[in-house]
Amino acid sequence: MIETKGLTKIYGNVAALDDINLQIKSGEVTVILGGSGSGKTTLLRLLAGLETPTSGSIMFADEDLAEISQKRLYELRLRVGMLFQYSALLNSLTVYENVAFPLNEHTDLDDTIIHTMVTMKLEQVGLRGFEEMMPSQLSGGMAKRVAFARALAMDPQVVFFDEPTSGLDPISAGVISSLIHETTVKTRMTSVVVTHDVQAGLDIADHVILLWQGRVIAEGKSNTIKNSDDPRVQQFIEGRPNGPIPFSRSQTAYIDDLTHKPGCVRLD
Ligand SMILES: Nc1ncnc2c1ncn2[C@@H]1O[C@H](COP(=O)(O)OP(=O)(O)OP(=O)(O)O)[C@@H](O)[C@H]1O
Ligand SMILES: [Mg+2]
Repeated sequence: MIETKGLTKIYGNVAALDDINLQIKSGEVTVILGGSGSGKTTLLRLLAGLETPTSGSIMFADEDLAEISQKRLYELRLRVGMLFQYSALLNSLTVYENVAFPLNEHTDLDDTIIHTMVTMKLEQVGLRGFEEMMPSQLSGGMAKRVAFARALAMDPQVVFFDEPTSGLDPISAGVISSLIHETTVKTRMTSVVVTHDVQAGLDIADHVILLWQGRVIAEGKSNTIKNSDDPRVQQFIEGRPNGPIPFSRSQTAYIDDLTHKPGCVRLD
């Protein structure tokens, strides 16, 4: 469904992504795991066509995103759903209106058809009956489910999820994880899930990609990742503070920063 070759994204002097070669298969749940700052969100934004790479290519179902027209890119985006990290619901609209929003924006469907489609999506995420509630009246888990229903509204081929379970209690997180898995299997869509929740990620993944400092350091089935003997992978999976993955990404020595050596930010 999606393939990248040599995908690189540089911000200033930070390589957020460095030579990423990956394939996302149709009908599968691909989970992108990685610590803070490893480049997960950047990768998701590039794959969704929301940003352009510094170099390298992204093929979306045989079309090179760098080569196609703006109009075509817009058409492709309609085949993609996105669940943003903080749900990004429109606060002045009801649950119903939030889910109906993409349909009203991008289609000329009659209100009765839109009503049927919204009702189906809300049923799918277990929130039928909550149509008239406002986002401020929802719990975090419910808001994520509404955002999920909205992401599904246009029956997308691919859905990108940025941290779909972060900030949720274990039960709500489990509900979202199984919804992602179930929906992917039942509707044969393709899901790309970015998360730092190792267990939830490994549980629902058909394919796992582990990022570290903008590079892919491991990929494969959940079991392959769990059984990897790469010490960086093991540190990440076990959540150990000490190991080859440093807590700090500072480029300069601590003592140099403390003593104002050239190249350091002066405090005076
Ligand atoms: N718009 C931007 N401008 C400058 N640097 C950026 C920008 N976006 C990301 N970066 C840098 O790219 C690197 C990767 O960031 P990214 O947001 O992709 O990480 P992440 O894996 O999603 O982290 P987290 O788990 O904390 O969300 C970081 O060093 C970040 O500072
Ligand atoms: Mg992120």
